[in-house]
Amino acid sequence: MHTIIEPFRIKSIEPIYFNTALERKSVLEKAFYNPFLIHSNDVIIDLLTDSGTSAMSSNQWAGIMNGDESYAGSPSFFRFKETVQGITGMPFIIPTHQGRAAERILFEMIGGPGKFFISNTLFDTTRANIEFSGATGIDLICEEGKHPSIPAPFKGNMDVKALTQTIKEKGAENIPLIILTITNNSGGGQPVSMQNIQAVHKVCKQFQIPLFLDACRFAENAWFIKMREEGYADKTIPEIVHELFSYADGCTMSAKKDAFANIGGFLAMHSESLALQCRNLLIITEGFPTYGGLAGRDLEAISIGLKEVMEENYLQYRVRSIEYLTEKLVAAGVPVMRPGGGHAVYLDAKEFLPHIPIDQYPGQALTCALYEEGGIRSVEIGSLMFGKYDSGGKLIPATLELVRLAIPRRVYTQSHIDYVAEVVIDVFKKRNQIHGLEILEEAPALRHFTVKLKPITV
Ligand code: F0G
Repeated sequence: MHTIIEPFRIKSIEPIYFNTALERKSVLEKAFYNPFLIHSNDVIIDLLTDSGTSAMSSNQWAGIMNGDESYAGSPSFFRFKETVQGITGMPFIIPTHQGRAAERILFEMIGGPGKFFISNTLFDTTRANIEFSGATGIDLICEEGKHPSIPAPFKGNMDVKALTQTIKEKGAENIPLIILTITNNSGGGQPVSMQNIQAVHKVCKQFQIPLFLDACRFAENAWFIKMREEGYADKTIPEIVHELFSYADGCTMSAKKDAFANIGGFLAMHSESLALQCRNLLIITEGFPTYGGLAGRDLEAISIGLKEVMEENYLQYRVRSIEYLTEKLVAAGVPVMRPGGGHAVYLDAKEFLPHIPIDQYPGQALTCALYEEGGIRSVEIGSLMFGKYDSGGKLIPATLELVRLAIPRRVYTQSHIDYVAEVVIDVFKKRNQIHGLEILEEAPALRHFTVKLKPITV
C-alpha cells in the first residue's frame, strides 16, 4: 500500500514565525510557565488544541459567503438544523456559540446540589459546568483506560459494572443524565465501542436515566468502530454515526472539533419539554433559537463541515497521522498513550519524568520543556487540570498525568509532524534536567487556564 497522504491541497497559507531557544526561555518566564499565557506568534507548532483550529475547506469558505444573517428564520439555520437532525436523528436542535454553552444551558436546567452526573470521563468544561451548578461529576472509565502504555481497542469505554453499582448507591432519582464522551478526550482521545454504548444504553433504560453523548469527536469515534469493532468494517461512516446516536436521548456538541468550524456548537435532544426549557435559557444568554450564539455564516460552515468530516479518505488520513506520530515516539522509547487517540498523542508524564513528584506537576513541566526545546505548545491533562485539594490543602491527584499534543484538523503536514517527533525525542533524551513547578497563583475553577507557576530549582 502507498503512503496515506493528506487528502487536500493547500490554497491559502499562514506563516510560522521562528524564534530561538533563548527567546523561548524568556517567553516562558513571562508566561509564568503556563502555555495558555503564551502569545501564539511565539509558537512554532501549536498543538494546544484541536478545537477551533481546523483549516476550513473552500466549500466551507463559500458557505461563509452564503450565510444569511437574518435575526430570525435564517435559511442558514434551517440548513444547519436539517444536517444535525440527519446526523443525530434528534428532532430538537439548539445552536450555541460553542460546546460549553450547550453544557451550561443543559446543566443549569437539570443540575444542582445533590445531583450526580456519571460519565466515562467528563471533559474539564463539562465537569466545571456540572460542579458550577452544585452537582457532582463521576468518571467511571474502564480498567484498560487507566493504563496508558497497554494498548486496547476501546480504552474510552465506560465501566458498565461500576455504572450499575454507582446508580444503586446514589439513587437513580439523583442522576439526571449519564454522559458518554466520544472520543474520550481527557482519557487519551480513545474511542468508545458500539457495544459499550449499547450496554450503557441498556443500563440507562433499566433505571430510566437519559443517555447523552458529548459528541465533539463523533466521526473519529465512528472511524475507530469501523476499523476495530467486529461487524462494522463494511458499514459506512454515516451508518455507524446514525447507529451510535440512535442509543442516545440527546447530545452536546462543540462544532470546533468534528465540524471543522472555528466556532460553534449545539444541543440536540428527543425531549420536547427539556428543549423548551433549554431554549428559554438560550434566549436569555445566547440568542434567538434560530442562531443561538452564532452568525448565519457560522451555521453554514458547521453544516458543511459536519458532512465533510464523515468522508473516509479524511478520517483515514486523520487517524493515520496521529498513529504515525505515536509510532515514531514509541520507537524512540518515549512513554505515550497507546494506541494513538483520534485527535491527539498523549505523552505519559508520570513515566516521562519519574523524578518529578506529582505535586510538582510533571505534565506541566513537560509542556514547558517541549516549548523551550522546539516552540511546540501542548497542554497538560493531569493534576494541574483536574487536581483538587483535600481539607488539609494537600493535592488529590488526577488519575493520569498526561501531556496532550492535539493535532489541528487539516493544518499541519507530515514534515511538521516529523519535526514534532524530533523535538519530543530530544526532550526525552534530556529529561533528567527538567525541574518540577510550584503554583504562585490559581483560580478556584478551571485553574489551568490562568494559573501562574515557577520552576523549583533546588
Ligand atoms: N467536550 C469535550 C470532549 C471537549 O473536548 C470540549 C472542548 C468541550 C466539551 C467543550 O467545547 O470548547 O466548544 O466549549 N475541548 C477543547 C480541547 C477546548 O482543547 O480539548 P468548547
